[in-house]
Amino acid sequence: MRRILHIDASYSGEKSVSRALSQIFITAWQKFHPEALILYRDLGRFPVPYINKNWIAAIHSPPETHTPEMIQALEVSNPLLEEFLSVDCYVFGIPMYGFTIPATLKAYLEHLIRIGCTYEVDEAGVRGLVHGKKALFITSRGGNYSSGSPFGEDHQEPYLRTIFGSFGIQDVEFVNVNNLVLGDREKSMVAAQARLQTLAAHW
Ligand SMILES: Cc1cc2nc3c(=O)[nH]c(=O)nc-3n(C[C@H](O)[C@H](O)[C@H](O)COP(=O)(O)O)c2cc1C
Repeated sequence: MRRILHIDASYSGEKSVSRALSQIFITAWQKFHPEALILYRDLGRFPVPYINKNWIAAIHSPPETHTPEMIQALEVSNPLLEEFLSVDCYVFGIPMYGFTIPATLKAYLEHLIRIGCTYEVDEAGVRGLVHGKKALFITSRGGNYSSGSPFGEDHQEPYLRTIFGSFGIQDVEFVNVNNLVLGDREKSMVAAQARLQTLAAHW
């Protein structure tokens, strides 16, 4: 049975565009995979705590040396990692905040940066340890970040490609929905929905 992890990151609740679009994809995809198990995490409503010094100490030391604070840090973090590793694919709904991803998604991803578990590194570089998985990122933006745009640079897609690549997940797809505030919102939404419906049949 296929397992999918669906994650939303917007703080805007019911008004969120990225949330609506990720749900449109999931609903369409489910028709082709009725047997799939879908796990859902709403980082906008239920943010995960930041990693801290106890977490960093814990992941770099053997369990038998862990203090109660280090054990507590891993008790929060380990289920996030186990959930992430337990699925075959990921669907993210991500608004652009300050040219990049929301802080709550960054906080979540930091829990997954586990040496010897999601990646290994040496002088030759970073090698991902998570194989056979794929990710779809649906991003919503107020402006337009296509090449030559006056709005600035897109720090979402390059960052997400890099961190998922470092985990070993190179099979990534982006549906970047531009112009939702400063442009033709209706046109962007119609195009995004059409693309998501098409993708659902093949992804
Ligand atoms: C705090 C904040 C920061 C934002 N920063 C940007 C930005 O840097 N670039 C941009 O194009 N839009 C920016 N926007 C607009 C959002 O990306 C846009 O409204 C998007 O549709 C939000 O997605 P959501 O409806 O799923 O929350 C920002 C919005 C907020 C609330």
